[in-house]
Formats: sequence, C-alpha cells, structure tokens
Amino acid sequence: MNETILITGANRGIGLALTKLSLLKGLNVEACCRSMEKSDVLKKLSFQYSNLNIHEMDVTSSSSIERVSHEIKVEIDILVCNAGLNNGKGGLFSDDHDEKSIMDVMMVNVGGPFLTIKNLYNNLKKNNGSRVVIISSLMGSQTHSSSNAPIYRASKAAANNLMRTLSSELFEHGIAVASYHPGWVRTDMGGENADISTEESASSLLSQFMNLDIKKTGGFFNYDGNKLPL
Ligand SMILES: NC(=O)c1ccc[n+]([C@@H]2O[C@H](COP(=O)([O-])OP(=O)(O)OC[C@H]3O[C@@H](n4cnc5c(N)ncnc54)[C@H](OP(=O)(O)O)[C@@H]3O)[C@@H](O)[C@H]2O)c1
Repeated sequence: MNETILITGANRGIGLALTKLSLLKGLNVEACCRSMEKSDVLKKLSFQYSNLNIHEMDVTSSSSIERVSHEIKVEIDILVCNAGLNNGKGGLFSDDHDEKSIMDVMMVNVGGPFLTIKNLYNNLKKNNGSRVVIISSLMGSQTHSSSNAPIYRASKAAANNLMRTLSSELFEHGIAVASYHPGWVRTDMGGENADISTEESASSLLSQFMNLDIKKTGGFFNYDGNKLPL
C-alpha cells in the first residue's frame, strides 16, 4: 500500500510544492492548511487527485489538531511539520520584534511542531519505520555569526532542540525524528531573490524523507541530505 504523508502549511510555498510532488508520486496526502478560504490551489487539486484529503488546521491550536486526528482514517507514515512564520529580518532595534510577534513566531515555529506531533502521535504508524520531520532552517544553527532576524533564528534553534528531545522520546517506538533546512527558497517567506524554486526544494526534501530511518534519528540535515551543525 502507498505511504501516507501529512503536511502542515500545505496551501502555499514549500508545503504546497511538497503536496503536489507527493500526489504525483502516488502517496496518500493529508494536506493541512490554516484556512480553507486561502487554499484555492489545494481545493482545485482535490478535483484532480483522489489521493488528496484537505484539513483545516492551525498548528497553534490543540483542539484544531485533535479534530484533524479524528478526521484521518489511515495511519501516517511521514508527518511533516512545515508551517512556519518569520516576524522580521531586522536586528535588536527593529520595530518588528514586539511582544505579540515574538509570541506568534515562537508559538508557530516551536509550539506548532510540538502540538502537531503530540496530537497526531496516535495516528502515526508504530514500530514500522514512520518518520516525523520538522522544517527548520540553517538560520537556527548555533554556528552562525549573523545579526539579523534574532527571533526567527532563536525559534528555529529551539525547533532543532525540540527535534532532538522528541527523537529520544520516540526512539523506543521506532519513530525517526529529524529536522531539515529546505534551502533558501523562492516563497513569500524566502523572497523572489532566493536561490532555489519550491519544486527543487520539495524534490530533494521528499527523497530525504523517504530515506529517513531510525539510524538517522536526531539529525539536522540540509535538503540535499548533508548533515548540518545544530
Ligand atoms: N523559504 C525559505 O527560504 C525558507 C528557508 C528556511 C526555512 N524555511 C521554513 O520552511 C517552512 C515553509 O516556509 P515557506 O517559505 O514555504 O513559507 P510561506 O510561503 O510563508 O508559507 C508558510 C506556510 O505556513 C503556514 N502557517 C503559518 N502559520 C500557521 C499556523 N498557525 N497554522 C497553520 N499553518 C500556518 C502558512 O499558512 P497561511 O497561508 O494560512 O498563512 C503557509 O502555508 C517554514 O517552516 C520556514 O520557516 C523556509
């Protein structure tokens, strides 16, 4: 039977490209978007592909994720925590970094994967090679020496740390957990001058997800599969 992949933030950017490619490859896709109203492309795809189910899900809301966990009828092989937010690229004195925007970024980028994995844990296939991936960023690596986007960077460093902790907790259940840098990608977040297209990023990422196994659990990887420093 074909594998099932669940993708958060599936209505645009990298999440949408991962959704399209997974459909083309014949995977069963559970595509989660924050708002159906902003997901016209996904809705159109559902007329074309019988292997696509769309769910409305806000990754910062346990009740919304719990509702999706009841809607899903098959076990999940690959859970992709992709939804993300960047509140601004300025430094310490940028007006972008107010209390609300800091809270929002931390909730979406750190709380989001945590609540998604917690509330969808029962839907994951157990002891049978299921995989949980968090789309992080090289900007969250502790090895950087940049001065921009301090809150986003901190949120992705925390997402990597979360990945490490959950990889230990889920190891005994045979569930591999890893985080990935998707490249600098031309999306609303990455901007039009970024290095690669969503298709290039999704293509490399998906083959990495397919090859992820328990021996690689706890790793932080580039989209091309090379290991990155946490
Ligand atoms: N683009 C890059 O160069 C780059 C580089 C490194 C890492 N990343 C990471 O890659 C992931 C995808 O980024 P992207 O470039 O595709 O970004 P994007 O185009 O801005 O898309 C972000 C996605 O996340 C969703 N989202 C935000 N908050 C949400 C919430 N509370 N609940 C559910 N969904 C939510 C958005 O939904 P709405 O449409 O409803 O807002 C949208 O689908 C993010 O985690 C990002 O940090 C991107």
